[in-house]
Amino acid sequence: MKEILKQAQLGKYAVGSFNFSTAETLKAIVLAAKNLNAPIIVSTSEGEAEFVGMPEAVALVEAWRIGTKLPIILNLDHGKSLEKIKKALAAGYDAIHFDGSELSYEQNVAKTKLVVDYIRQVEKTFDRQIIVEGELGYLRGSSSLHKEELKIKEEDLTSPDQARDFIEKTGVDSLAVVIGNAHGIFSKGGEKLNLERLTDIRNELEGKAFLVLHGGSGIPEEDVKEAIRLGIVKVNVNTDLRVVYKERLSEQLEDNPEETTPYKILEPILEALREVVEEKIKLFGSQDKIKL
Ligand code: 13P
Repeated sequence: MKEILKQAQLGKYAVGSFNFSTAETLKAIVLAAKNLNAPIIVSTSEGEAEFVGMPEAVALVEAWRIGTKLPIILNLDHGKSLEKIKKALAAGYDAIHFDGSELSYEQNVAKTKLVVDYIRQVEKTFDRQIIVEGELGYLRGSSSLHKEELKIKEEDLTSPDQARDFIEKTGVDSLAVVIGNAHGIFSKGGEKLNLERLTDIRNELEGKAFLVLHGGSGIPEEDVKEAIRLGIVKVNVNTDLRVVYKERLSEQLEDNPEETTPYKILEPILEALREVVEEKIKLFGSQDKIKL
């Protein structure tokens, strides 16, 4: 599993992490990855995991792995409690993002370290490999459409010195950074990456952790490409899929008021989601990166 991110680091491309909470969204993501022969991460937030079910998410992903022979990583996105993280690990998740970014720096280090220690124990006991991601900086927004203007402050950004200290003290595999990104799509704009800050963080870390960009929807494509060139190896996307899902569903229901068969209603939505994921995979440069 870690090899997938290692390869991305070496090849200067990023693996897309796409959120899902329904079987058809997962299917669309996997079919896009299959079409483009791309490694893929599928994620559930705590809320999404609550809806789809953690053991159910694991079973669905495993069925897709067998069916497609793709190395699909199942990730818990923004895990905030050790209790939920333990549940995800017991169910069989492959990767855990612990988000302690709302805590003070010292508390974030201490809690992240607890999570990492627990996960290393699980790896040893059950001979598993699990990717652990920590987060530093204040990531604004939520995975939805925002009408207000996005204002990111200098102090929200990840500090390069803290990033190095955090990696050394916690031993995480990956680090989610705040460099002008935010969750969601802001209609008035405002998501602009501070690529100098990313360069400074990368130089401080010297490849000791995989760099992760959250808030992948709404960032100018040129910025995303440049961030990947500078070392981002995982880009998280959620809102772009949510928006397409909702818009296409509304259209479908309006255009076909008599239709009652769920798979007929959902088929065009799945296609639209697949197209979005394929565009992202191409943007991230991760197509044709699987050696079968
Ligand atoms: P967006 O909703 O902006 O795509 O961000 C998703 C994300 O970062 C999930 O962790």
